[in-house]
Amino acid sequence: MKKMCLLSYPLALQMMLASVWFLILSTLMNLEEFSVNAGKPAPVQVGNISTVDDAVNFKMYYGQTFKVIKNGIDGKSYLLIQNNSKMAGRTKYCTNRMKSFVIPLSNYSLDSDTFPGIPVSFLELLGLLGTCKGITSNEMASQCLLKLYDGGELTIVNKSETEQLSQFSAYFTSSTDQPPACNIATFLPASEDYPLQRAEWIKYIAMFANLEFRANSVYNAVKQNYMCLAKMSISRNSSFKPVVAWMRYEDGTWSFTTEAYKIKFVQDAGGENVDESINSMTYNISIPDDLDQLHAILCSVDAVIDETYTTDPIAYNMTTFLQNVGVEDQSCFAFLTNQSIWRYDKRMQNNASLDWYDGAVSQPQLVLADLMEAIFPTGNYTTTYLRNIAKGELIADIASYDNCNSDPFSPLEPTIIPCQ
Ligand SMILES: *[C@@H]1O[C@H](CO)[C@@H](O)[C@H](O)[C@H]1NC(C)=O
Ligand SMILES: *[C@@H]1O[C@H](CO)[C@@H](O)[C@H](O)[C@H]1NC(C)=O
Ligand SMILES: *[C@@H]1O[C@H](CO)[C@@H](O)[C@H](O)[C@H]1NC(C)=O
Ligand SMILES: *[C@@H]1O[C@H](CO)[C@@H](O)[C@H](O)[C@H]1NC(C)=O
Ligand SMILES: *[C@@H]1O[C@H](CO)[C@@H](O)[C@H](O)[C@H]1NC(C)=O
Ligand SMILES: *[C@@H]1O[C@H](CO)[C@@H](O)[C@H](O)[C@H]1NC(C)=O
Ligand SMILES: *[C@@H]1O[C@H](CO)[C@@H](O)[C@H](O)[C@H]1NC(C)=O
Ligand SMILES: *[C@@H]1O[C@H](CO)[C@@H](O)[C@H](O)[C@H]1NC(C)=O
Ligand SMILES: *[C@@H]1O[C@H](CO)[C@@H](O)[C@H](O)[C@H]1NC(C)=O
Ligand SMILES: *[C@@H]1O[C@H](CO)[C@@H](O)[C@H](O)[C@H]1NC(C)=O
Repeated sequence: MKKMCLLSYPLALQMMLASVWFLILSTLMNLEEFSVNAGKPAPVQVGNISTVDDAVNFKMYYGQTFKVIKNGIDGKSYLLIQNNSKMAGRTKYCTNRMKSFVIPLSNYSLDSDTFPGIPVSFLELLGLLGTCKGITSNEMASQCLLKLYDGGELTIVNKSETEQLSQFSAYFTSSTDQPPACNIATFLPASEDYPLQRAEWIKYIAMFANLEFRANSVYNAVKQNYMCLAKMSISRNSSFKPVVAWMRYEDGTWSFTTEAYKIKFVQDAGGENVDESINSMTYNISIPDDLDQLHAILCSVDAVIDETYTTDPIAYNMTTFLQNVGVEDQSCFAFLTNQSIWRYDKRMQNNASLDWYDGAVSQPQLVLADLMEAIFPTGNYTTTYLRNIAKGELIADIASYDNCNSDPFSPLEPTIIPCQ
């Protein structure tokens, strides 16, 4: 039997997956073999490949003329068949668990209105905006994709109309509620626990375009920079770690984050999260005992990241925060005297879409650098995503096309923060 080019996965994992994969892969192998035996041209060479180093929710397999992505969150698999292979013309899968695509995709569309949406920044870093031909809403953070939309390069499609979706070689979505179309692929970087794991999903989307080489180089640059910054933070010789609270006000109640990637950002920035036992509790500010407890906790906090949702982020300022937290006497709070109250809405498009859910996912090194500045201020670093409302910092307008390449096929370079 012809040898498969499977990546070196740990044995236990391979064995676990073997039962499911043996059937599919052996079928495909036979197809490949058949084309050789029948005197057809030799299969194309396997070019650059990616390996998953950090992410846990997807797996990749490489054959000679095809690749397979297995999405561990929804259990769906995508068979990606090289367009110049025999298999491309005769193999098609469209089941609930497995779909096939001919790659590189000639075009694709994005579900841009399922919160938090597909981070378009991954496609920008790969230089893939030029083949994006459809979106489901023009409320998005990416000014470069909006520029193409304004220039008539792509259309808005109604995702409830399956015929509209089927005009594209692929439709990427983060929604689990999917219409019955054959060209749907889920893209779920937000399903990962940690910042770098989320960023590594660039490799997932790159597989559909044979851009593994680019994805590897972007991810390596991002990871190296992130690790360097984290190392710098950990080697700080502060006598105590500043305490950071990610907190949100909703329906009269405050709660602290339980999201792993936010907790990890704080650790990697050299800070400490509010105690774990506090994370599971909520504080109703109409109940005096709750309010007292909340204030007691806040006395231990050095920096606050106020995640409170609002439909009008521009109007959300220090006054709003103080009202929500029910504070009159400001003296005991370190984060007030030291002016360290932040929101992650600094980069916003059209008064609605936060780049926090887009650019910050693919370039976590920028978030880490922001947090380091929030926790250990130098006053010499301009944050990207976080704005300090305690200092009256305003939202930065990203409704400009200045930073967009004129060629939608030329990739965006990741921003590397000076670090030694
Ligand atoms: C990998 O990609 C790079 C850049 O596109 C190319 O120069 C190189 O030849 C490729 N290697 C293989 C084995 O295809
Ligand atoms: C395969 O895709 C490449 C890149 O889009 C294209 O140049 C080529 O013509 C395609 N080949 C076939 C056989 O469709
Ligand atoms: C999208 O299609 C659905 C089903 O056909 C329809 O009910 C809905 O009104 C359409 N939405 C828009 C914005 O056209
Ligand atoms: C997308 O590519 C496919 C296959 O090449 C083509 O049939 C289809 O018309 C294209 N769709 C759009 C919207 O460009
Ligand atoms: C921290 O302390 C160690 C050992 O005392 C020293 O070598 C190192 O340079 C210090 N780091 C910083 C950032 O001051
Ligand atoms: C907060 O407490 C007030 C007063 O007891 C109550 O009316 C309200 O429903 C509580 N809110 C929540 C979200 O539990
Ligand atoms: C932003 O949106 C909010 C909520 O829709 C609205 O109240 C506010 O006036 C808008 N601000 C601007 C500057 O358009
Ligand atoms: C916050 O905005 C409100 C309404 O525009 C304004 O009255 C208030 O002075 C602002 N607070 C601060 C601290 O700027
Ligand atoms: C305020 O920040 C400075 C340095 O940024 C630090 O030395 C000081 O301890 C902080 N004060 C409080 C009350 O946290
Ligand atoms: C501020 O940052 C710039 C560029 O990173 C650096 O050259 C300069 O020395 C810094 N200034 C201070 C006071 O740290």
